[in-house]
Amino acid sequence: MRDYTVDNITEAVVKEYSSKTPDPRMREIITSFIEHMHAFVKDVELTEAEWFEGVQFLTDTGQMCDEKRQEFILLSDTLGVSMLVDAVNHPKGGMGTESTVLGPFHVEGAPKQENGTSIIRRDIGVAPTLIMGKVTDAGGESIMGATVDVWQTSANGLYDIQDKDAPEWNLRGRFSTAPDGSYALVSETPVSYSIPTDGPVGRMLEATGRHGMRPAHVHFIVSADGYKSVTTHVFVSGDKYIDSDAVFATKQSLVAEFNQCDDEDLAERYGLTTPFTLLQYDFGLMAG
Ligand code: BEZ
Ligand code: FE
Repeated sequence: MRDYTVDNITEAVVKEYSSKTPDPRMREIITSFIEHMHAFVKDVELTEAEWFEGVQFLTDTGQMCDEKRQEFILLSDTLGVSMLVDAVNHPKGGMGTESTVLGPFHVEGAPKQENGTSIIRRDIGVAPTLIMGKVTDAGGESIMGATVDVWQTSANGLYDIQDKDAPEWNLRGRFSTAPDGSYALVSETPVSYSIPTDGPVGRMLEATGRHGMRPAHVHFIVSADGYKSVTTHVFVSGDKYIDSDAVFATKQSLVAEFNQCDDEDLAERYGLTTPFTLLQYDFGLMAG
C-alpha cells in the first residue's frame, strides 16, 4: 500500500503488526499501543516541533538512567502509570495488605538481621522509631519465617544510594518473622521528601505546576513461601503531603499512626529511651 493518510495509516500499521507478530500477547499489546499513540497524535494534532521535543525528552530520560538512578520508573510513577498497573493487578477487596509502588530505590540483598535490631547505620541524632507487628495469612494465622524487607530515607530526605556520606545499607534491612509471626526493628522516624527533580521528570513537574514531594513513609516487601509477596509502604498519618503524593501511591489502609510511646519495658527490650516513636503494623499475605 502507498499514500498513507491521517484516515488510513492507523489501520494499515495495525494490520501489518497483527499479521506478523507470532506471540498473541505481544500482538495484543503492540497493536493496542499503536492505536492509542496514533489516537493521541490525532487528538492533540501534534506539531513536528512538539514530536521532536517529546523524542528529546525520552532521550534525556534514558540518558539520566544508570545503576543508581531510574528516571523511567520515576516518569511512570509521576504520570500515575505505576499505580495504574498496581491497581489493574491488585484490585481492591482482598484480605491481604494492599500494595503500592516499588519506587526506584529498592536494593536487593539488604543485610539479614535479628528481630529487634536497628537499621540505623549512621547516627545523626534523629528520633528512633520502633516498628513492630505480625505477618499473618488471610485467616489471621501467624506466618513464621516470612521475610520483611524494609527501606526508607534518612532525615535529610535521601536514600543511602543517593547520599555519598551514608554508609552502605543505611536504613535498609531484612527480618524474618518469629514463630508467632512477629517482627520488630528500630529505624529513624521517617520524613516527607522530594523525589529527584534534577532531571527530565523534574522539568516536567515544573512545567506542569506540580510539586515532587512524597508523604513520609517506610517501604516494605513482605514475602513467605506459599504466599504472594506484597510490595508496599506504611505512611505517617497526618503528613502534610498525604493527599498530594507526587506519585499517587497513597492508600488509606496504608496510613498508620506513628505514636509517641513511653513504655519503659519496650524501651529496655529494644535499647531505646523513652519517649520513642512506635509504629505497630500487621501485614496480611494471600496464599499464592
Ligand atoms: C520512593 O518512595 O522511594 C519513590 C517512589 C516513586 C518515585 C520516587 C521515589
Ligand atoms: Fe520512598
